[in-house]
Parts: sequence; C-alpha cells; structure tokens
Amino acid sequence: MLLKKDRRFAFQGRIVLLSDPGEDMVEIMVALAKLQGGSVCNYFPKINAQQAISDLEGQGLSVVEHDHLRGTKACLDASLKTLETFALPEDISITVIDETTSPQFVSEVVEMSEKCGVMSVPGWVMRGTGPKGVFFVAQNSAGEPVACAGSFMCHPKNSSHAQDAFWGMLATRSDRRGQGLACLLGAKAIIHMWEVHNARGFITGVSADNLSSKALCKKMGLSNSDWQYLSCIDHTIFGGDAITK
Ligand SMILES: CC(C)(COP(=O)(O)OP(=O)(O)OC[C@H]1O[C@@H](n2cnc3c(N)ncnc32)[C@H](O)[C@@H]1OP(=O)(O)O)[C@@H](O)C(=O)NCCC(=O)NCCS
Repeated sequence: MLLKKDRRFAFQGRIVLLSDPGEDMVEIMVALAKLQGGSVCNYFPKINAQQAISDLEGQGLSVVEHDHLRGTKACLDASLKTLETFALPEDISITVIDETTSPQFVSEVVEMSEKCGVMSVPGWVMRGTGPKGVFFVAQNSAGEPVACAGSFMCHPKNSSHAQDAFWGMLATRSDRRGQGLACLLGAKAIIHMWEVHNARGFITGVSADNLSSKALCKKMGLSNSDWQYLSCIDHTIFGGDAITK
C-alpha cells in the first residue's frame, strides 16, 4: 500500500518488486526480502548482474537468476494467430476466475499450480479485485483445473514501464501437457490485457534452464532482453520455495 504510487516499485500479485534499480538496489532488495521473504528486481542491466549478485549474496540473500523476457505487439499478433488456429480438446472448457468463483475452485487452482512448481497469486488477485488483470483456467469435464495463466498490470501510472504487464503463472497439469493449453490461455490473457487494460508490453522471468517455458514464451512473442530478472530469497523466512520457474 505504501509503495503503490511509487514509480520505482511494482506489484504483480505475488510480491512487491523493484522495477527501477538505481544505486540503492541492494539496500532495497534486502529490505523487501526481510518484509516478504523474497524480492525481485526487474529491468536490471545484464551487464552489471554479476557484481549485483555477489553484493546481494553478501547480504545473506540467495539469488536466482532468471532471464528477463519481454514482448510488445508481437505478443498480440502471436496470440491472435494462436486463437485462430487452436482447436480446443473436446473435454476442456475455459473459465475466468472472478468474484463469483468458489473458494474451493480457487484452492484447487493454487494446488495444481504448486504441483507444477509455480507459485500462484493470492485468490483476491486471481479474482481481479487487486491489480488490473485476468486469470484464465482450463477445466476438464470433471471440473478439475488442468491449466492456468494470468496477466496483471503491475506498475503505477507514473512509471516508465506503466504499460508493461506481468504475464505468466503458466502451469499445465502433467497429464495434459503438449495439448496447447498453456499457449491458448497465455494468448487469451495477452489479448485481454491489450484490449481491456491497454497493456503494450508483456514481461516475465524464466529460469535459463526452463526450456519448455522459454520455447512457449518465444512462440507467444516474448524474447530475451538486455535485462536480468533477479529473484532473491531470504530462506530464513521463505523456506525452500522459489518465486518462479
Ligand atoms: C511450461 C508449461 C506451462 C507448458 O504447458 P503446455 O500446456 O504443455 O504447453 P503447450 O502445449 O501450450 O505448448 C506450447 C509451446 O510451448 C513449447 N513447449 C511446451 N512444452 C515443451 C517441451 N517439453 N519442450 C519444448 N518446448 C515445449 C512449444 O513451443 C509449444 O509449442 P509447439 O507444441 O507448437 O511446439 C508446462 O510444461 C508446465 O506447467 N511446466 C511447469 C511449470 C512451468 O515451468 N511454468 C512456466 C513458469 S514461467
């Protein structure tokens, strides 16, 4: 709440993160990690990353380097193409999580994401009552969630990244992978954000060895950038979890 209008910070539903590094980056990251258990710095110049990582580690944080992917109009084009060509498996229906969704279903979505190793956003964010955004879920005929994806506007209006939306939280239950569900839900999220929330950029952080996710991002028009997405964890607070894959 305190940082909501500060153009240096962002909130993508999981944690408050730093989007405008500056010379006090380490100090801020340590403070955010102490409060939240973890912190992320977006848009950190790759060229300076090694020094920053050792400084953060020197402060007791465990740093996970993620590639910082971003796309603009190419994401919309790829998404429209996906919707044009995709044939939905017969037993699948797509739903948006909103205020009418049952708490039980939201919990099932969180559980499914976590089984895929992806930290979900809280229910109130998923429902769209926090940051502007959308969260899509694919359900099978038994009503079980089998895939999900979301996107949220994350910067205040006065930020130089104001029109960049965080996109991701993609997870597909292992028995339903390879059927195009992540692509479809990811595409729907991009189109929604472009048309409804005026997003013109899409950002995400992906671990360098997560080849399936990187291939998916590439297909959806996001590509590697000159930035690093620095993810820090204070394991004394956060346990062994990671913020993203
Ligand atoms: C990444 C993940 C969401 C993909 O889900 P999915 O529903 O199987 O993906 P799709 O079927 O829509 O595949 C879309 C594209 O992603 C890429 N892709 C998906 N799985 C892949 C794999 N195992 N190897 C390489 N590329 C892969 C391909 O480009 C594919 O397009 P193509 O089939 O036309 O080649 C799923 O593997 C998952 O839940 N992984 C664990 C969680 C995770 O890493 N999430 C991403 C967090 S950033």
